[in-house]
Amino acid sequence: MNKQGFFGNWGGSYIPEILNRTFERLREEYDRARNDPAFWQDYTNLMSTYSCRPTPLTFAENLTNHFGGAKIYIKREDLNHTGAHKANNVMGQGLLVKRMGKKRVIAETGAGQHGMATATMAAKFGFECTIYMGEVDVLRQRPNVFWMEKMGAEVVPVKDGNRTLKDAINEAFRDWVSHVDSTHYVFGTACGPAPFPEMVSWFQSIIGREATEQILAMHGRPPARVYGCVGGGSNAMGIFQGFLGNEETELVGVEAGGRGLDSGLHAARLSGTDASPGVAQGYKTMFLQNDDGQMLETHSVAAGLDYVGVSPILADLWERKKVRFESATDGEVIEALDLTMKLEGIIPALESAHGFVQAFKEAGDLSSDDAIIINQSGRGDKDIFTIADAFDDPSWKEFIIERAEQYKTNS
Ligand SMILES: Cc1ncc(COP(=O)(O)O)c(C=O)c1O
Repeated sequence: MNKQGFFGNWGGSYIPEILNRTFERLREEYDRARNDPAFWQDYTNLMSTYSCRPTPLTFAENLTNHFGGAKIYIKREDLNHTGAHKANNVMGQGLLVKRMGKKRVIAETGAGQHGMATATMAAKFGFECTIYMGEVDVLRQRPNVFWMEKMGAEVVPVKDGNRTLKDAINEAFRDWVSHVDSTHYVFGTACGPAPFPEMVSWFQSIIGREATEQILAMHGRPPARVYGCVGGGSNAMGIFQGFLGNEETELVGVEAGGRGLDSGLHAARLSGTDASPGVAQGYKTMFLQNDDGQMLETHSVAAGLDYVGVSPILADLWERKKVRFESATDGEVIEALDLTMKLEGIIPALESAHGFVQAFKEAGDLSSDDAIIINQSGRGDKDIFTIADAFDDPSWKEFIIERAEQYKTNS
């Protein structure tokens, strides 16, 4: 990152003047933390005693035998407390909030995993907490809303725009501008104005640091490929940082292909041709937007991947051809999920399953001496309603109808 927060042509910090002082303080605190080895030590201690770190690297023997090529390893971010990689970033920012002496945190959330992690951190550190979530996502991820509220957070459904992640981000910025002194905005992914892209990626680098050591211990050499799904880009940045600059390893980011790249209903920013450079939500990247700069509607079966922008760090790595970008359709995602559950007894989040799709397409073409790593960013339990719908599961439907009848009779 250069002084103005740019990564090549991408990034920057396009913020309203009223936030200048707040961002200056955040940058100072972040720089201090980065240059203080004791901070990283505190952070890893917290993550090992509160969030099951280091998360394991699992050898997926049955999937490996099924595809008959590279050895498939899965980095298990689903085993983090709160069920996803989001906790890595949130607990780190929580430590910074304590250092800044603020008492309130706000956050946006799509899949609800970042909201869950933020509500958890706020409960642990004693902060007041408000979570902004698009109304569509509230419906898709109702179990996460339930837990956030139970942990004491206020969840505000956002009714603007297409009522998903970008609209939640806009609303969180509105709140921040009105409460700059008391409040920290816990940005959930490697996007937004500097220093968020770099800072979030730094906290998430814990994934790549662990994976590098684990794959060497288990396989004896670096992997041929590493796969990560890409919403805003934080879990992918997290694991990629362990292998960037390593000639032996190809990095593959997998975006939401939704109903197909020709359908207009997807969130492929770097793997398709529909995105163009733009400035929005405080930073410059490739956005899915029309010629007037209005954001386009996006779609994915995974609530955490249907964002219009993408990390400026990934946009730079894409431009410099350091990361290859692909996309997976909703249908392919459900098939990959089905296979992983049946063969490994592991339930990836719908977001993470995008990485599995691409790895499954390519594993058979590699040699059995090669290893590949898939970053399983989260667990799929939160997606039970969407997955049950996708499988058109009759007994689940019956159960829901029965429960609804019980609620009706008892109310
Ligand atoms: C489990 C999971 N994986 C991936 C993502 C996508 O975010 P990112 O690209 O920042 O990792 C989300 C977002 O909510 C998520 O919940």
